[in-house]
Amino acid sequence: MPAPDHAFVDSLRGLLDDRAILTGADAIGHTTDPRGVSATDDVVLVRPRDVDGVSAVVKACALAGVAIVAQGGNTGLSYGTHLPADRPSILLSVSRLNQIESVDPDRWTLTAQAGVTIQAVQEAAAAVGRKFAPDWGARGTATVGGGISTDAGGTNVVRYGNMRDNVMGLEAVVADGSVWDGRRSLRKDSSGYDLKHLFIGAEGTLGIVTSAVLKLVPATPYETSTLAAITDLDDLMPLLSLAQEHAPGALSGFELIPTFAMHRLAEVTGASVHLDAGTEFCVLIRLASSEPVDDMIAAFLSAGAGAGHIVDAIVAGTPDQETSLWHMRDEITPMTTYVEYQGLGLKLDTAVPIDQIAEFVRRISQRAAEIAPDSLCYGFGHVGDGNIHMMILPISPEAVEPWLAAKPAMEAAVDQTVFELDGTLSAEHGVGLLLKDRVGPQKQELEWDLMRSIKRALDPDDIFNPGKLIPDPEV
Ligand code: MLT
Ligand code: ZN
Repeated sequence: MPAPDHAFVDSLRGLLDDRAILTGADAIGHTTDPRGVSATDDVVLVRPRDVDGVSAVVKACALAGVAIVAQGGNTGLSYGTHLPADRPSILLSVSRLNQIESVDPDRWTLTAQAGVTIQAVQEAAAAVGRKFAPDWGARGTATVGGGISTDAGGTNVVRYGNMRDNVMGLEAVVADGSVWDGRRSLRKDSSGYDLKHLFIGAEGTLGIVTSAVLKLVPATPYETSTLAAITDLDDLMPLLSLAQEHAPGALSGFELIPTFAMHRLAEVTGASVHLDAGTEFCVLIRLASSEPVDDMIAAFLSAGAGAGHIVDAIVAGTPDQETSLWHMRDEITPMTTYVEYQGLGLKLDTAVPIDQIAEFVRRISQRAAEIAPDSLCYGFGHVGDGNIHMMILPISPEAVEPWLAAKPAMEAAVDQTVFELDGTLSAEHGVGLLLKDRVGPQKQELEWDLMRSIKRALDPDDIFNPGKLIPDPEV
């Protein structure tokens, strides 16, 4: 019974403009995620156009005991916006909070409402000669609010950190409908708890983020990448060190690319295979600076090859080639390459301390070979920050059934491996419903208890995204 009754919906209509509320078939299109999974078939989608509208909706829901699930660009991968099955709820979309409120190059900040896309922020920053650093494939759809709420990462984290590191202040509507305006632009402020950090990565469980002051950094007009074939995963850490040493401050991307995934992408999309030196893996490395980086790339490649870590490499010689390499990286996700197995396979968003990446990939591959021999297992992604997305998928239509039978054991093996290596099951996609029942052992129970206390303090009636993120207490 997720949808609230008609009288309540009518009362919301009285608070908002005509375009704000969608129900039935009109709402479903907005709730289907990139994998084609819909949160529900009976949803009330509420789209206030300003913070006062959000506040009015929160007040009304609080009074009526209706739960509120916030939605950004609907690009999430952890079922964080699924509606609770056991109580009336609405989906509150921030899509109409879509104004860039100010761009302040002298402060090195940009203030944007929660529904502004990451790409729009990047473009507005570029227009004043600055850069907004967080970047990932869904930039054109993912929003500031969603990125903040999942503490999203992407391919620039090795240099600039994740969303948490790029938010200076924020505005949020809290459980009684009050608007907390914490949009400060202070580089230093030691006047108490830094409450914005509670809302970053909270997945909408503590309030609705409506606007944020984002940090801008110097533009990097010179960006050049190299795709290098490596012989072994053990080459990764020495190469990362070499890149940092030969390009101090300029390394802005260091991504693992499995060679066969490049081939698969080429098969599926007609794209070209950029480099095939016969090795299992490549790394895609970007240097970005206010000065040309060609000499640094050449020195790095020569050192890497000299030390036996690089077998072959190409360097983007033009902006088009540069774009094409990163387009390949954006598209290499299973969303594009193994679309027929979406929802069936395991897609990991794990991170481990960076010196454990090779060990992690080996252990998971080994466990997959033992537990689900008819599966395809590979990893790609963010070596620079330890966040390798490993995929374990049925290898063919015939393998689907045995794979599904093996999946629970494989999940248990993944969890065990991540915990043994002091890693996390959720690095940048959030916990949502997907990982809620699995993350528990990752932290001391005291830590979850402290989170439960915070949740109770900020949302005593549990109206914000109930049942997500925090595991149920240990019995
Ligand atoms: C990526 O690294 O490509 C993103 O996290 C999205 C994904 O894993 O599909
Ligand atoms: Zn990623």
